[in-house]
Amino acid sequence: MNQLLVALDVDTRQRALELADQLRGAVGGFKIGSRLFTSEGPSLVTALAARGDRVFLDLKFHDIPTVVGDAVRAAARLGAWMVTVHGAGGRAMLEAAAGAARQSERAPIVVAVTVLTSFDPHELARIGVSRGLPEQVEALGELATTCGLDGIVASPLEVSRLRARLGPATTIVTPGIRGGADCNPTSQDDQVRTLSAAEALSAGSSYLVVGRPIIASPDPLEAARALGRQMAHTSSQA
Ligand code: C5P
Repeated sequence: MNQLLVALDVDTRQRALELADQLRGAVGGFKIGSRLFTSEGPSLVTALAARGDRVFLDLKFHDIPTVVGDAVRAAARLGAWMVTVHGAGGRAMLEAAAGAARQSERAPIVVAVTVLTSFDPHELARIGVSRGLPEQVEALGELATTCGLDGIVASPLEVSRLRARLGPATTIVTPGIRGGADCNPTSQDDQVRTLSAAEALSAGSSYLVVGRPIIASPDPLEAARALGRQMAHTSSQA
């Protein structure tokens, strides 16, 4: 199983398909977020799925339970392999998402976003959450898995605690991958809490989401392969 997912954080269908054509076979799937989805729509999901790609549809659904259930069903019909919902949507919404996935012909993996990486403790307090940030992440992670979701999205620095708390069967998806021996060692972009691919896998991540270090590289395929080598080395040592 290739654990490297590439974030297609671009504006056009043409650029997204170019990148997918270049990287297919070297990576485990492609993430489509709200930027690309809003620009280019669902036909891009079906186009990639028709080419055999695993599509991680990262639209972070957060609405009343029936709407989120229907959105997960719609994503499954498009051929999405993995989808995100907000853990803060609460128990009924999470159960609706998990139930909708289970009832779909090709059940997508459903993972919950806990606390956005743009949050700091002050921002969390401002929206009325009195728990600390790590405690909130863990509480929402536990709620999501208790409600039947497959897993969560977690920043690199939270992975090992979440893996210990949620157990080996939980899918943990990790953005914020930077550095390491041969993957763009200097650029952090706007990522604040980062780990190398090797460190994230060792901490217990199931999948790594990498965007700019690959898609903004002059040679995306070589950047993906370099990361893949780093990851394979880690896995062989595990
Ligand atoms: O930074 P990079 O381009 O590798 O981002 C990959 C993904 O990580 C993005 O698509 C976004 O979902 C997520 N991200 C994040 N926090 C940031 C920046 C990006 O969680 N500060």
